[in-house]
Amino acid sequence: MFTAFWVAYASFLLPSAVRAAAQYNMVKEYAGESFFDDWTFYNNADNLTHGNVNFLGNKDAFHDNLAFTNDAGNAVMKVDNTTQLKFGQNRNSVRLSTKDQFTVGSVWVADILHVPYGCSVWSAFWSSAPTWPVGGEIDTFEAVNQDPMGHMGLHTNPGCTHSSNAVQSSTLINSTDCSIDANSNQGCIITNPSPASYGEAFANAGGGVYVTEFAIDGISIWFFNRTTLPSSLQGNVSTIDTATLGIPVANWPADDCAVNEFFQPQEIVFDITLCGDYAGAASVFYQTCTGVCYNDYVLGDPSFYNTAYFEVSYLRVYGEPGELTVIQPSSGVRSVGLGRFATPALVLGSLLALVWAL
Ligand SMILES: *[C@@H]1O[C@H](CO)[C@@H](O)[C@H](O)[C@H]1NC(C)=O
Ligand SMILES: *[C@@H]1O[C@H](CO)[C@@H](O)[C@H](O)[C@H]1NC(C)=O
Ligand SMILES: *[C@@H]1O[C@H](CO)[C@@H](O)[C@H](O)[C@H]1NC(C)=O
Ligand SMILES: *[C@@H]1O[C@H](CO)[C@@H](O)[C@H](O)[C@H]1NC(C)=O
Ligand SMILES: *[C@@H]1O[C@H](CO)[C@@H](O)[C@H](O)[C@H]1NC(C)=O
Repeated sequence: MFTAFWVAYASFLLPSAVRAAAQYNMVKEYAGESFFDDWTFYNNADNLTHGNVNFLGNKDAFHDNLAFTNDAGNAVMKVDNTTQLKFGQNRNSVRLSTKDQFTVGSVWVADILHVPYGCSVWSAFWSSAPTWPVGGEIDTFEAVNQDPMGHMGLHTNPGCTHSSNAVQSSTLINSTDCSIDANSNQGCIITNPSPASYGEAFANAGGGVYVTEFAIDGISIWFFNRTTLPSSLQGNVSTIDTATLGIPVANWPADDCAVNEFFQPQEIVFDITLCGDYAGAASVFYQTCTGVCYNDYVLGDPSFYNTAYFEVSYLRVYGEPGELTVIQPSSGVRSVGLGRFATPALVLGSLLALVWAL
């Protein structure tokens, strides 16, 4: 009797019970003329990934048309493709991150028509906690140079790995240790095997929609092109249910990477750098390009960068109903999350007390 009682409740309370809600409500939209309203532009040379760019501040980026909303109503974020540089100079580009942070229990959906590509280009749509690597990093889309495909990945403190229990469609598992100390901070990388996940093919296919679920039971990323986009994601949907999306392209279950231990509230980032630690590393650069990254491209004909832009229809963020999933640092609202994580433990504690008493 005790056993039956325990088993019934244990199956409800133990890891599978800490499964996140699959349903989320819209909490924030970045789209159209207001797309750029709530971002911080990194106003500095690229001292983060050592690329040959100056990331422009907000005013300069708009003034130089490196960030704008186009006639189609889409946000464009791009590299300068008009200035001929002299040796020693860096090319202007942008790196912008959301002012708001999104807690565990969030999903972000981005409809992207074009991603930056070409030799020397390193582009990414990702997220990070303000304190890195403690708060973790989730790369929804990243690719360099003339890669045939984009990839997804996590970067964390040591102890988080891609689980062999992952339920995902991609079989292209490049690396499984998410620790920044492993393999020169390669991260735990999954390649997006879609025939058009990067470059000209992505643009010709009209791009696609990325869904990133940041849930207590794991992190998952879906990618849909225009023909595979499920009806539940079409239009301006105020609610999404990730259970309707099918198997994600990449999945990092919490069993080998405790999400609440390795991740803190995330800021979402778009950035484009040139050469630098990754695109410019010889072992990476010469996989798909020839020449010298800085001399031949950054200093070369500015029209090399005609394809080095993001065009984004929208970025929407959804949160678990009833939870405070958006942190606005400027307003000092930071008291979120913990109540929910405490609940299963408290219930388990009460139950143990009950079983003990019986
Ligand atoms: C990058 O440069 C800025 C401005 O000089 C500085 O505040 C910041 O600490 C630097 N970051 C790194 C990682 O060096
Ligand atoms: C990942 O593996 C695939 C398949 O082997 C390969 O084509 C791709 O270049 C690799 N990507 C990275 C980022 O290592
Ligand atoms: C869309 O994705 C499906 C499934 O991966 C694939 O069969 C199809 O070729 C893709 N369409 C385009 C235009 O890339
Ligand atoms: C999408 O819906 C939200 C409310 O659910 C609304 O605030 C927003 O303006 C809508 N966006 C567009 C582009 O219509
Ligand atoms: C720069 O690139 C944009 C596409 O991002 C293109 O429309 C424009 O014509 C290019 N400018 C020049 C001077 O080539």
